[in-house]
Amino acid sequence: MANATKPYSVAIDLGSGALKSFNKKVEVKLRDLRGFFYDRGAVDAAVYGLKNPTVYEYFENSQPSARGQMNFGVTTLNPGKVGSEYYMTRGHYHAKKRAAEIYVGLGGKGIVVMQTKEGRFFHSPISRGRIVYIPPLWAHRTVNTGEEKLSFFYAYASDAGHDYGTIRRKGFAKLVVEKGGRPKIIDNPKYSP
Ligand SMILES: [Fe+2]
Repeated sequence: MANATKPYSVAIDLGSGALKSFNKKVEVKLRDLRGFFYDRGAVDAAVYGLKNPTVYEYFENSQPSARGQMNFGVTTLNPGKVGSEYYMTRGHYHAKKRAAEIYVGLGGKGIVVMQTKEGRFFHSPISRGRIVYIPPLWAHRTVNTGEEKLSFFYAYASDAGHDYGTIRRKGFAKLVVEKGGRPKIIDNPKYSP
């Protein structure tokens, strides 16, 4: 299957979002996200109190990092909050400027937040049956605003690279928080453009 120089196919269970075959699995725990949530005190309390829960995992068909190849996989993001901020992925820019990405929602409910270094911002709902197109140059982060696991299929150029550091240093311009029982997108007071 992976390191594809030959065509291949894999099965996906569209009900659960489970990919039947993958060569890379990454589990991201709350402690790994300490620098990404707004309220670091709440992260520390939750890491301690909840024994460092898993926030998200991804299961990937990873190809060699070479021009023209694509990686694809499924991300599953657990429901939960840190303070009032919903569980989310770190978010990243692609290291390579000319690299878009496609998401296909499989289950659950959430929001994909996107921004450019020039200060543009966009957000899209993601849920089963919705496709989100992320153009080159747009950072992207997925937030689970529902009460169930959020899962989505993704595909991107295998040589795109991931720049997590810019988001770690500067944050995302907007935060997705729960207010009065509903998700609300607010300005991030700590954001430094
Ligand atoms: Fe990406």
